[in-house]
Amino acid sequence: MSGAKFSKNILCIGAGYVGGPTMAVIAAKCPQYKVTVVDINAARINAWNSDNLPIYEPGLLDVVKQARGRNLFFSTDVDSAIKEAQIIFVSVNTPTKTFGEGAGKAADLQYWELTARNIVKVASSDKIIIEKSTLPVKTAEAMGRILNANEKGIKFEVLSNPEFLAEGTAIEDLERPDRVLIGSQLTPEGIKARDEVVEIYANWVPGEKILTSNIWSSELSKLVANAFLAQRISSINSISALCEKTDANVSEVSRAIGMDTRIGSKFLSSSVGFGGSCFQKDILNLVYICQSYGLTEVADYWERVVLMNEYQKRRFVQNMLKVMFNTVAGKRIALFGFAFKADTGDTRESPAIDVAKQLIEEHAKVVITDPQALHNAKIDLADYADKIEFAADPYEAAKGAHAIAVMTEWKEYKTLDYKRIFSSMERPSFIFDGRNILNHEELFKTGFNVFPLGQPNHKHF
Ligand code: NAD
Ligand code: UGA
Repeated sequence: MSGAKFSKNILCIGAGYVGGPTMAVIAAKCPQYKVTVVDINAARINAWNSDNLPIYEPGLLDVVKQARGRNLFFSTDVDSAIKEAQIIFVSVNTPTKTFGEGAGKAADLQYWELTARNIVKVASSDKIIIEKSTLPVKTAEAMGRILNANEKGIKFEVLSNPEFLAEGTAIEDLERPDRVLIGSQLTPEGIKARDEVVEIYANWVPGEKILTSNIWSSELSKLVANAFLAQRISSINSISALCEKTDANVSEVSRAIGMDTRIGSKFLSSSVGFGGSCFQKDILNLVYICQSYGLTEVADYWERVVLMNEYQKRRFVQNMLKVMFNTVAGKRIALFGFAFKADTGDTRESPAIDVAKQLIEEHAKVVITDPQALHNAKIDLADYADKIEFAADPYEAAKGAHAIAVMTEWKEYKTLDYKRIFSSMERPSFIFDGRNILNHEELFKTGFNVFPLGQPNHKHF
């Protein structure tokens, strides 16, 4: 596996939702580079080397197959790969810290720091190290110190190249990104390193979409992008509560405000709450950074985005309870969807986890169906295994249920035979549409009592 026939030798440490797809796209677009992805998790690497990839992402297998074995390699041999590489992307996980100072808010940088220390230990030549993981602003300073404290005379240039892909559309986002951001120190060495990374993306991304900036702006822009996206969802979700009190319709409000080009139409779909591994983690990280600089008002402002999301999830279950005659004890309730959004099997921070747990606390009989996420759902709810049922088939899940609650906007849920479903359910039959994706009028005509989010309900009593 010598890199001699390749013009660049690129490594990514961390073969997760970001490292795998990102490197697969670089390898597919740039056959002239050797791209290696390593991970300490052998099962994950084995899966990347099979046709049963470790993550579900539309179009990913095709891209992997284009390059795997040609110029894309997945391996657990982290040390050899570090030695060979000139450019190393680090895409390890950076979860919220669960212990000590900053617990519950700050980023846990232990995986990142361990990786940096390992690079120092193993490397025998100069390298460009790229922060692909989402990190607190100023992390590059600490990483630079750790890396350049080596006594071998090796020089490491740390860059920031945050990833903006969304799960479910990762391949599309990587192939046609809105922008690629590369931050560096503004020294001659920093700029030279930055130009090397610009050259990689320039193979398929138009030049005007490749932004360069100082390294701190780049680190901070990633946190701020996620905070702004999540803020839009919390804003529209707050309005969904007001719509329910006033007979306004949140979808109509979204459409009306979104046509104002200054506001824009995206990320204005009211939901049972945002999920995913990053929005909450990154906002809490932003909050922690602001607090640590004494910016209390700024910290409080952003924390409200997360608190509103918690409220939305709680409100959804409280509404179910109220509508179902103040008790769901002993009632079968089918959750349609468990992934945090459609087109992924990822359930990290999915609102469905909170909804399922609250319903179990109310002694409901919860049954979960999802086209891709049942495996992860079983892990998330392992502590409640005896209280939950899982059904791959939504018709089975709904059989004998008092209520269906739509948790994920899978398109297949729009076209189910709801007459058949209705005939198999208890009466009165309820649908709570936590994503506003179903045809509520039709369902009402079929006999359901229908409770959308932020829209007038349709009930037979
Ligand atoms: P992930 O948990 O799916 O993958 C991280 C991988 O890193 C794991 O497979 C883990 O085994 C590996 N790892 C940890 N320590 C290691 C070490 N010392 N050596 C080798 N491998 C190691 O995480 P992810 O979702 O890919 O996220 C990675 C980073 O990217 C995070 O900072 C996240 O905030 C950011 N991000 C994620 C997304 C997303 O959609 N998931 C999008 C943009 C940015
Ligand atoms: C998000 C960002 O969109 C990416 O740019 C970013 O790279 C990524 O986080 C990250 O840093 O991890 P992702 O979480 O994969 O991507 O998915 P989104 O499409 O942003 O959805 C997040 C959550 O918001 C989902 O639960 C989704 O259902 C919800 N959502 C989204 C709404 O409730 N309403 C909307 O209008 C849009």
